[in-house]
Amino acid sequence: MTHIVGFGGYVPERVMTNDEWALLVDTTDEWITQRTGIKRRRIAAPDESTLTLAGNAARMAIKDSGLTPDDIDEIIVATDTPEMYTPDTAALLQDLLGCRNVPTYDLGGSGCAGFVQALDVARARIAFSPRTMLVVGVELITRMLDWSDRSTAVLFGDAAGAVVLGPDPGRARVLEVVSGTDGSAAGILTLAAGGTRNPFNRQTLESGEYNRLVMDGRRVFTEAVARMSQAVSDVLDRIGKTIDDVSLVIPHQANLRIIDAVRKKLQVGEDKVFVNVHEYGNTGSATVPFALWQCVEAGRVSEGDLVILTAFGAGFHWAAAAVQF
Ligand code: UT7
Repeated sequence: MTHIVGFGGYVPERVMTNDEWALLVDTTDEWITQRTGIKRRRIAAPDESTLTLAGNAARMAIKDSGLTPDDIDEIIVATDTPEMYTPDTAALLQDLLGCRNVPTYDLGGSGCAGFVQALDVARARIAFSPRTMLVVGVELITRMLDWSDRSTAVLFGDAAGAVVLGPDPGRARVLEVVSGTDGSAAGILTLAAGGTRNPFNRQTLESGEYNRLVMDGRRVFTEAVARMSQAVSDVLDRIGKTIDDVSLVIPHQANLRIIDAVRKKLQVGEDKVFVNVHEYGNTGSATVPFALWQCVEAGRVSEGDLVILTAFGAGFHWAAAAVQF
């Protein structure tokens, strides 16, 4: 059995409001609020990077677990905005934290589903052979976006969240995780430049493709609602529980309307669904672990609570986890 023994979360200090976006692109606070629920987001400082955000959340999670960096046996970093192309952010994080020469790897490209998928991988690794794992979800997405594209830029923010997992009883147990992918829907959310199909070069720079996030917003919306609600039902079926047994659902924070639609499909009250999208926007792989940390910190979850995490992201990926506090 996999237990969560420590939680951590970090957001940069700088707050950027919708009104500030309205000074940069043709948008309004009203449009952003009505379509997404987002009011503000955090923007990393110039001297911050994906690694420093991850490091801040990871240190908190390790401290919270009562362990030291020396106790970590394996590290996974879920991110679509890595510190550099190669090596992986997880290797750099191992060094930053002063961990031993333990295996590390990034789970990249899964968009916002990355952390919950990483949780699935981690629990399988721990079941295979007991070990202490650090799993981080981090995104410094605002530095990678096209700031002149109002249809995507206003949606995102920077953050990091982390958990320490282990085989011995801790604050919460990961009971079950379900995840899935529909690769035929890969085209609905892509940043296609930078790979071998279309490498970074003068042409991708001049055409602006190098940071162009292409998104079919309505299709992503529809898929997100269908896949997240199905994933929640599936994970509950697997553990023989119903939505009535759930104390709190922590969904990926992309859009308040998506969260509301999932909530209605699951027939669950507003008080049972955690929302922070108005404060932080969509922080990709960081939304779920950061929100989880916030819930723990704020006493929003307590012993005995069944908490469901769920996310979707580019791929098209989805996942849901059942966590028993
Ligand atoms: O983690 C995954 C990340 N992505 C998502 O989760 C995206 C999911 N989809 C969504 O959240 C919504 O589809 C959006 C918020 C992206 C868009 O909301 P929508 O209600 O689906 O709007 P729309 O795409 O139908 O666009 C409506 C209009 C368009 O203008 P026209 O063509 O109707 O004249 C857009 O050009 O709104 C325009 N628009 C904007 N207007 C003001 C797009 N972005 C903006 C903006 N400010 N920032």
